[in-house]
Amino acid sequence: MNIQSIVEQMTLEEKAALCSGASAWTSTPIERLGVPEMIVSDGPHGVRRVPNVHEMAMESLPATCFPTASCLAATWDVALIRRMGEALAEECIALNVDVVLGPGVNMKRSPLGGRNFEYFSEDPFLTGEMAVGFIEGVQSKGVGTSLKHYAVNNQEYQRFSISAEVDERTLREIYLPAFEAAVKRAQPWTVMCAYNKVNGTFASEHDYLLNQILKEEWGFEGLVVSDWGAVRNRVAALKGGLDWEMPGPQPRRVQEVVDAVRSGELDEAVLDESVRRILGIVAKAAKTPKEGTFDVDAHHKLAAEIAAEGMVLLKNDGLLPLQGHQQIAVIGRAAENAHFQGGGSSHINPTRVAVPFSEVQSRAGDAEVTYAQGYPADDSFRQEMIDEAVTLSQSADVAVLYIALPTFKESEGYDRTDLDLTAQQIALIKAVAAVQPKTVVVLNNGAPVAMSDWIDDVAAVLEGWMMGQAGGVAIADVLFGRVNPCGKLAETFPIKAADAPARLNWPGEAGKVRYGEGIFIGYRYYDAKQMPVLFPFGYGLSYTSFEYSNPQLSAAHFKDVDGVTVTVDVTNTGSVAGKEIVQVYVHDRASVLARPEKELKGFAKVALEPGETKRVSIALDFRAFAFYHPEYKQWITEDGDFDLLIAASAADIRHSVTVSLASTLDLPCLLDKESTIREWLADPRGQAVFGPMYAQMEAGARQMFGSASENGNESAIGMDVMVMFADMPLVSVLMFQQKALPHHPEEIVAGLLEQVRSA
Ligand code: GLC
Repeated sequence: MNIQSIVEQMTLEEKAALCSGASAWTSTPIERLGVPEMIVSDGPHGVRRVPNVHEMAMESLPATCFPTASCLAATWDVALIRRMGEALAEECIALNVDVVLGPGVNMKRSPLGGRNFEYFSEDPFLTGEMAVGFIEGVQSKGVGTSLKHYAVNNQEYQRFSISAEVDERTLREIYLPAFEAAVKRAQPWTVMCAYNKVNGTFASEHDYLLNQILKEEWGFEGLVVSDWGAVRNRVAALKGGLDWEMPGPQPRRVQEVVDAVRSGELDEAVLDESVRRILGIVAKAAKTPKEGTFDVDAHHKLAAEIAAEGMVLLKNDGLLPLQGHQQIAVIGRAAENAHFQGGGSSHINPTRVAVPFSEVQSRAGDAEVTYAQGYPADDSFRQEMIDEAVTLSQSADVAVLYIALPTFKESEGYDRTDLDLTAQQIALIKAVAAVQPKTVVVLNNGAPVAMSDWIDDVAAVLEGWMMGQAGGVAIADVLFGRVNPCGKLAETFPIKAADAPARLNWPGEAGKVRYGEGIFIGYRYYDAKQMPVLFPFGYGLSYTSFEYSNPQLSAAHFKDVDGVTVTVDVTNTGSVAGKEIVQVYVHDRASVLARPEKELKGFAKVALEPGETKRVSIALDFRAFAFYHPEYKQWITEDGDFDLLIAASAADIRHSVTVSLASTLDLPCLLDKESTIREWLADPRGQAVFGPMYAQMEAGARQMFGSASENGNESAIGMDVMVMFADMPLVSVLMFQQKALPHHPEEIVAGLLEQVRSA
């Protein structure tokens, strides 16, 4: 397709029509110019291809349901996610889909977010790495992706209208980096804008987010599509950088665009730019193979492998792996009715479903395996079900409880109101644990649940997530030790909902949700508050143990632009093979802006045979040390020392090594006529120019007031005035000394600023 020549031949009406979909899942074709239709389809942990793409049907064609993003992130395995992406693309091709609508990379600001199961992590770095792997995998096969939901879409409450009120630094350091990494490194074909407003403007009309940051700053080459129904004002959206409105058709909106161009309200060049972007992706999609087959068995196996890698063993008193038990009581509805995905637009029609109970049975050898439902599908309380489970558990020598957080408590479309399991589930766990000390709880949920009521009573807890259609296989493999669990949490499990970072600003009111906790979400928050958590970020147990030794740096002193590499030896000190996820967090010793105690900036997953040692190497670049300074409006580094924390989890630091960074930035001076004395002294140029004058001021103040420290708190006015002055604007301090000064304070400060700028 020669895009330029097509644009030149298109009528205004055709251009406007192209910028909206033709139907629920298709773009508008232009037959006379040979522009075909493009088909998009939901996902992203499977392909949700409806039989008739022109309609908004509920049913979809069978496709492999892989684990959802919470589980994917807990694998910390980018290569594996890439393989999943490749498999997804094969299914897209087989089902005639050009673009799959995902991945979702929004941050888990609160554990109560209804869609957290569809998102990777509370950490932007980990999320970005996962997204890059996913997108590269899918797109390597000629199928497109849609990075969503851009941006600051972190809750379901009023998701179509609420304004996320977030400051610039928080936006840049927490809510945008995963999008940034994915766009810069993997160029998703499309980016989907969010429903919500960001600082008062709809994400679908957000010139700053869409045009300035995404397209200009990051160099996004693809098209921006609206979330389904996110457009309010089509003309404003085009101006703001939203290329393609979905779903279609939208004849009224098309007419509005035509009218706006005719009246001069909308520059046709803006429309042309969107047309060009859409045609560019339609041209790519035209090359996507339109038919094929996929290996249902192989993909089911891959889904099982991913689920196994993502399961997180949270607690184990030594009961697991199960060995030599004669009677196994399997309790819980989810053992028969696998709970493996969440509700909403990502809901997949699986090709098959592994039944957790059967998978246990097939691995249990001669043992007798019994089953009781334990809890109903709804929220009713059924004591007789608990009694039945207790009787079974009592006579067995181990009880395995499959506890799934029901859809009425967790789904797209609504947030969770608490972190609790149902009352029946809690009572069930406690009752079974009371008669059976060898009790294992297997959880199926997309986000943290509170466990304080029962965790001390049970011997083991396995976090099984929304594990995809083959998750039942993975659970049984882990329970019986055929797979050594290796997943680690990509999100903190708080002790209780009230501990969560966004607690005081959730879910917002009067149309706004204030991101008052700023950059302090997830472990950044719990670190800052020194608050205990149930399970920390990056945590997960194994059937073996690992030792970290011999940490080394590529250089003790380095330039920010060169980065630095940290290496460490990891040894499997146990008796079974296993995989360890090594994490590197960066701690900045001193900074002009408040920084988190530590931030994840690198990780590696390493497989080790018993007794084996491997050297793990993790490279850290400029951004690993930088922070976004809202006044400089850029990422900056400062000279100084950083501790690199080599860790098994956010709470399990094995080694700390210190590096010294030399910044290569030549930053403009930020001093102005309102700058405080402390700011003058902190700025190297300010210090040089103002330092001598400060020394005089200090001496003068001593003479006049005495010094708090010299006179044991008995200065003339009972305080240390220089400390008070430090945070006053220089000009204000000088105003009090006007009489003694040769010029007016404003002139003096203007003179100093002049010197600083020419320095
Ligand atoms: C939605 C979702 C989005 C999905 C789209 C199409 O409501 O927010 O993730 O891709 O609609 O179903």
